[in-house]
Amino acid sequence: MRASLFLALVLCANFFYWGCCKEGEEKTLAKFPPRGWNSYDSFSWIIDEEAFLQNAEILAQKLLPHGYEYAVIDFLWYRKNVDGAYVDSYGYDSIDEWGRPIPDPDRWPSSRGGKGFTEVAKKVHEMGLKFGIHLMRGISTKAVDANAPILDVHKGGVYSEDGRNWTARDIGLTHRTCGWMQHGFMSVNTDLGAGKAFLRSLYHLYTEWGVDFVKLDCVFGDDYDSKEISSVSQMLEELDRPVVLSISPGTRVTPSMAETIYKYVNMYRITADDWDTWSDVASHFNISRDFASVKKIGAEGLRGRSWPDLDMLPLGWLTDPGVQQGPHRKCYLTLDEQKTQMTLWSIAKSPLMFGGDLRNLDGTTLSLISNPTLLEINSYSSNNLEFPHLYTTEKHLGKKNHIFF
Ligand SMILES: *[C@@H]1O[C@H](CO)[C@@H](O)[C@H](O)[C@H]1NC(C)=O
Ligand SMILES: *[C@@H]1O[C@H](CO)[C@@H](O)[C@H](O)[C@H]1NC(C)=O
Repeated sequence: MRASLFLALVLCANFFYWGCCKEGEEKTLAKFPPRGWNSYDSFSWIIDEEAFLQNAEILAQKLLPHGYEYAVIDFLWYRKNVDGAYVDSYGYDSIDEWGRPIPDPDRWPSSRGGKGFTEVAKKVHEMGLKFGIHLMRGISTKAVDANAPILDVHKGGVYSEDGRNWTARDIGLTHRTCGWMQHGFMSVNTDLGAGKAFLRSLYHLYTEWGVDFVKLDCVFGDDYDSKEISSVSQMLEELDRPVVLSISPGTRVTPSMAETIYKYVNMYRITADDWDTWSDVASHFNISRDFASVKKIGAEGLRGRSWPDLDMLPLGWLTDPGVQQGPHRKCYLTLDEQKTQMTLWSIAKSPLMFGGDLRNLDGTTLSLISNPTLLEINSYSSNNLEFPHLYTTEKHLGKKNHIFF
């Protein structure tokens, strides 16, 4: 009975939300909190094509049936994995003639010959999954130093306006570098036509490759750049291909900060990076409560809905923050702590992005992240709020009782 009612609800939802996002159609992007896998917690920045596709294969087999559909490559996929390269190093990144980051050809061999992630995206799509990449704010320092010309995707060739050709130095805001990667990236001036043209050229290239999901970093929280968020959102809305927009990081995010951006995105981090310590898990309770109470869970978003994001789930087989090393250790949380984390993420209706190396996925972790009750709560529960403990008296129930919600 319960199963058939559940099925009826699913069918009903599909009936009303089928189809996607063209003008005049129902807005459906991220109609539930998105789920998937992200490479950061297990590979830091060094993942390569072989390891990524192996993980995607297992994602498709074991987790896609539970709604985990996005396979996402996290940061610095354009950087050479060699001695001397690290998170804020300079000079190891690949860019194309228009100043756009392209995959490091040694780590992503199928990208050679100007193909970018086309082949990887194709394989991911053949597995039934959707494909995501991480991007940093604005433009790379390398593109500005090279003074790369700006591509006009509408006309083809160099962007010209007011009788001149525009280049990276015209749009890069050198005083607004990314706080946590100062040698890597800076904001672009989105008040200029050329600044907008550059962002448009990025998203045109990436959606041509087949990207379905963008995690745009260094634009939120401490690195807040509302103009870039709204400009990118506008670019994405213009495209034929629907792209989920996820923004981060979430250090010191408040509901009032979210107020100005939630309609432009599909998910936004509301906490700093979450790793596998109890204090990290514990720090997510109050902020979840605060966002629930201002009704931001499942609010309007880019071409659909938006979701406050508690960050990836660092469970299973992991690496350490910011290192140049792949998966090599087990999650430090106890099983009770892991269950608490998965339960909080589910009732807060956070996106669920698994972070562990799927090639070493153990049965306990798999059953935790695929728990059917939690996943149903994560997708279908509504008006979730924090309740204080309620105490009743003997008079009411005939015996002393505590009811905990
Ligand atoms: C702009 O670039 C185009 C193509 O490279 C070139 O033909 C043209 O002369 C340039 N215009 C100016 C004003 O420099
Ligand atoms: C969470 O909020 C409660 C109630 O406002 C407060 O007493 C508690 O100190 C907060 N916890 C943290 C970790 O900030």
